[in-house]
Amino acid sequence: MCGIIGFTGRSQAKDILVEGLTRMEYRGYDSAGVALEVAGADGEARLDVIRRVGKVAGLASELEGYKDESTCGIGHTRWATHGRPSTANAHPHTSCDGRIAVVHNGIVENFAELREELQDRGHEFKSDTDTEVFAHLIEEAYGCEGDLMAAVREAVSQVAGAYGLAAVCADEPGTIAVARKDSPIIIGMGEMGAYVASDVIALIDATRDVVVLADDQFAKLTPEGIEYTDSEGRAIQPEVTHVDWDLDMAEKGGYPDFMLKEIHEQPRVVRDTLVGRMSANGELDIDELGLSLQELNDIDRVYVIACGTSYHAGLVAKNVIEGWARIPCEVEAASEFRYRDPIITPSTLVVAVSQSGETADTLAAIRDARIKGAKVFGITNVVGSPVARESDGVIYTKANKEIAVASTKSFIGQIVSLMLLALLLAQVKYRLSTKTARMLFRELGDTAEQIQRILDESSDSIHEAAEAVAPAHSALFVGRGMGAAIAYEGALKLKEVSYLHAEAYAAGEMKHGPIALIEPGFPVIAVATKSPTYDKVVSNLMECRARGAVVVTVATEGDEEIKKIADHVIYIPQVRDCFSPITASVPLQLLAREAALLRGCDVDQPRNLAKSVTVE
Ligand code: F6R
Repeated sequence: MCGIIGFTGRSQAKDILVEGLTRMEYRGYDSAGVALEVAGADGEARLDVIRRVGKVAGLASELEGYKDESTCGIGHTRWATHGRPSTANAHPHTSCDGRIAVVHNGIVENFAELREELQDRGHEFKSDTDTEVFAHLIEEAYGCEGDLMAAVREAVSQVAGAYGLAAVCADEPGTIAVARKDSPIIIGMGEMGAYVASDVIALIDATRDVVVLADDQFAKLTPEGIEYTDSEGRAIQPEVTHVDWDLDMAEKGGYPDFMLKEIHEQPRVVRDTLVGRMSANGELDIDELGLSLQELNDIDRVYVIACGTSYHAGLVAKNVIEGWARIPCEVEAASEFRYRDPIITPSTLVVAVSQSGETADTLAAIRDARIKGAKVFGITNVVGSPVARESDGVIYTKANKEIAVASTKSFIGQIVSLMLLALLLAQVKYRLSTKTARMLFRELGDTAEQIQRILDESSDSIHEAAEAVAPAHSALFVGRGMGAAIAYEGALKLKEVSYLHAEAYAAGEMKHGPIALIEPGFPVIAVATKSPTYDKVVSNLMECRARGAVVVTVATEGDEEIKKIADHVIYIPQVRDCFSPITASVPLQLLAREAALLRGCDVDQPRNLAKSVTVE
């Protein structure tokens, strides 16, 4: 998502900042900017802030004409959260007097209260961002402390949320003050000076010995060196890590491919998609909704329209929109919906799900639904994309740019966002008590940790299962209820990246036809987690086993019985059934990737596929 870079030393800062921002472009962003410290003609230093909506190349060409000497500055690529993409909302943000500038990654959860308090004390805000509160908080603290690092420490102590933060002050030339909580910050000392970035890729040309700042640690960068402190201001000596990645590996965060990197980002995606979404009194907060509570309350039918993986997120959503909010919900491939004559009234909500936000069929279906009078709500990963622009409201999935063609982390972001929407509809319609909504919201957040455990603990069992699946010509995925939705996605992932034919069926449908496929050695991959239909899935698997199938199951931790019918078991932590799609899809993504690698396929760029399908 956003990217931070900062430099202070003996070289032109603007070139280093532009180079760093360019390196971080792959993360996705909508605007870019820098703040450069300049010694004024009168001897007094000033900050020049230059920001642009759009690509870093646009900012770079504007900076070509910038002739002042500056050896200290900070830069940022922004991916909009609070406030639309615009020059005013682009970072860096400045204090009222323009002498302090900040760049920030993360989210200030209590920004509304802080902004109000700061305005009451006379601060004028120039943007809609949460980040701007830092500039004003630091300005106040600097007035008392006269020390940038101490002022930053004081400012962040008032903030709830996540931050990777870098600040400069015209009254302390050459100093960059840095803070971190739940958002990455990397620091290094090179030959030409000191560097800070949110991504190691931005500074590996300067140094390969870096400090990965830990939460609640601070750093003061000057051309002479770097001082690290804790939240009390006491000196600390963080560990130095040597990075021996080449550029390609750095871009992949040290993973061998983007697909694996993106699968490993999923715990963060869950957290980021949920952060700041529930108020202290248990009300869901989706400020970008674009629909009034009355309009939401009037909704009596939901269509989820999407393609491919996004369609499968819709299948998951149907279960919770109907289960929690008790609103009839249909899920349709956008390419079918647009050519039908669906029943649409002003109280119909069409939810368009699209990672790229520009899939041609989904867009055409949105336009059609609006003409017919539906309210349209978009769920997308790309800020300002056509789906976001053409919908009445939007939830952004906070997955960051997804580079591997096969969707993984976007899918998880979509499911979490759709669950937020279902919870909101249920609250508005009084179908769930605040207590239950709060409990479900908390358990939804807990899936971040559960995914992490799967990533940490399941690689051996997944590898063994992949070895059994990879030599096959075809595979069948089965499940019931939520498990069926995930089976569809598991089959799609496997065929996309490994070119192995795979089909998915609701397990109860097996005996109505697909069971004819089963012969000795045929792989059947089942989502057999503990759920109300667990016993039925087990019976279906016995039927497969009796015909010689190789049975692979994704099962709930502690289920020893399943070993009697499965050749390979991949255990995942126990979760409430409605959240099982979030956890159960992770081993299936990894299984698809492992099988593809065993078959010698390029997992990031499968043949014949494009990341964004803008043709009908
Ligand atoms: C599968 C995949 C595709 C997309 C589909 C829709 O891994 O990525 O099936 O889900 O092309 O794309 P979006 O979500 O961009 O509308």
